[in-house]
Amino acid sequence: MPGPRDKGVPEKSKNFGAAITRLIKELKNYRAKIIISTTVAITSTAIAIISPSFLSDLTDTISAGLGGSIDFSAVWKFILIIVSLYIVSTIFEIIESFLMTDVANGFARDLRTRISEKINCLPLKFFDRNEIGDTLSRVTNDVDTLAQSLSDSLASILVNILMLVGVVAMMFVTSAPLAVTAIISGILGLVFVALILSRSQKYFSMRQKELGKINSHIEEVYSGLNVVRVYNAKAEASKKFDYLNKRVYDANRKSQFLSGLMPPMMHFIGNLGYVAVCVMGAILVTNHAITFGVIVAFIVYVRMFTRPLTQIAQSLNLLQSSAAAAERVFEFLDEKEMAKETAPAYLDKNTVKGEIEFKNVHFGYTEDKVIIKNFSAKAMPGQKIAIVGPTGAGKTTMVNLLMKFYNINDGDILIDSVSIHDLTRENVHELFTMVLQDTWLFSGTFRENIVYNHAQISDAEIDRVCDTVGLTHFIKTLPKGINSKISDNDSVSAGQRQLITIARGMIKNAPFLILDEATSNVDTRTEELVQKAMDKLMKGRTSFIIAHRLSTIKNADLILVMKDGNIIETGTHDELMKKNGFYAELYNSQFRH
Ligand SMILES: Nc1ncnc2c1ncn2[C@@H]1O[C@H](COP(=O)(O)OP(=O)(O)O)[C@@H](O)[C@H]1O
Ligand SMILES: [Mg+2]
Repeated sequence: MPGPRDKGVPEKSKNFGAAITRLIKELKNYRAKIIISTTVAITSTAIAIISPSFLSDLTDTISAGLGGSIDFSAVWKFILIIVSLYIVSTIFEIIESFLMTDVANGFARDLRTRISEKINCLPLKFFDRNEIGDTLSRVTNDVDTLAQSLSDSLASILVNILMLVGVVAMMFVTSAPLAVTAIISGILGLVFVALILSRSQKYFSMRQKELGKINSHIEEVYSGLNVVRVYNAKAEASKKFDYLNKRVYDANRKSQFLSGLMPPMMHFIGNLGYVAVCVMGAILVTNHAITFGVIVAFIVYVRMFTRPLTQIAQSLNLLQSSAAAAERVFEFLDEKEMAKETAPAYLDKNTVKGEIEFKNVHFGYTEDKVIIKNFSAKAMPGQKIAIVGPTGAGKTTMVNLLMKFYNINDGDILIDSVSIHDLTRENVHELFTMVLQDTWLFSGTFRENIVYNHAQISDAEIDRVCDTVGLTHFIKTLPKGINSKISDNDSVSAGQRQLITIARGMIKNAPFLILDEATSNVDTRTEELVQKAMDKLMKGRTSFIIAHRLSTIKNADLILVMKDGNIIETGTHDELMKKNGFYAELYNSQFRH
């Protein structure tokens, strides 16, 4: 995957040809619909191209009869032909746009499904390099771009090329001198517009560049908000913002002024063509070189000639951005997947005893750097195991291995004597409840957030759980009680979020529990409440607790002291204190503060 990019900067694909080829290949399920829609579009274009000649005949029939008697049967015949041609061509156009929209929507839906399935098949390593939210939003945005431009660009280029060739041919067949006049005046006008456009292009890319700059400034300030605050750099940051904002404004104004000129300019070209055709046409009619009807036909041809030229240019631009979007989407879909799991064993969470053994575990996130060196430990059913140690000791890494987020390099982890290798990741996840430092709530009601994906839970059960974790009072203060929507995440404090996570864990009722620094983000006001709720959640479950504050794990059955990926001491609090080693040092240093 490419790294984060400036939003809005116009993009060029790395390999336009390859991207388009891949796109066409991926569209193979829609081939029939695309062929039909293109055929329909071509037919409707062909009709549009021949219809002016009937207009010309109509005009000539009427003007021939102006002195004496008009041949009304011929007039009606031409009117009927012209009107039916226009009706058929309109119907075809409708069918074409309907089919292409259908193709684009279907293709986008397929891609979204494939993307969401893909995410589940990617190794966690992928997300070390890419934020999952960022990846998702980027890829889904790309799919939207792709779907939108796809229906517009591909067919449009084909149809417009046909239109251009057809119209030029028809013009020359009808009258060569008039054809030359119309084409020259059209091209002169286009050159004029191109000149203006190339000037405005400069301002457009300037605008995108300034937008990119302001976006990255905002991102910088937000991600380092605390630092900005601590160092009193707020005034500095907002001064820079004002400056950048002013530049965006200026670039915007210039580019918009120029792009506002475009429609009147296009009208001007058209009108220029009409004048040229009328003047030249009048001369030719006077010399009896052409009939009056030819001028009428040419007025239509002039319009049909300039439009495809600008539309092809637009479509090519659009196709560029679809190619870039397609490149990223397919790059994501081509990411290497995890090996499919075949699991000879299965552990039912309702019958598990709750024993876990680490046996000489070795692990490194990368080949060259070993993080966990020969880790061995055993937890008996219902025991409370604390893992302590300085930051970077490898505590969270142990959790990642236990949850099978990463595969261990050597050694084994046994759950009820079954190797974790013999269980699927899903099965392992069923067995564990995790309460982490970062909580996550999704937009939905409080009830939905607590129940999560367990459907058969009675209201009485939920009430009981809320009561146990101490959420009842908070929920009573909400406008609609537990059925209130969590709309604004800020209205729920970190402590309350953690309580909801704990309630969710109680509903899940898994035999194993992992608490990784679960209270480190919690405000002191609710910390005691959260601590109590966690104690209740731990009851009857084999629990692994990682806590910064050692006073909270004093009552653990076993404390594993980690340093640099090794267990350097093990024992109960009292034993370790007696030993007067690393743990005692850690504990005393915290106690003194
Ligand atoms: N996803 C990762 N990729 C590479 N290295 C990592 C990753 N996560 C953690 N590490 C490294 O592994 C070591 C142990 O980290 P971690 O288990 O998070 O420590 P703790 O939770 O004890 O603070 C650290 O040196 C850290 O930099
Ligand atoms: Mg950690």
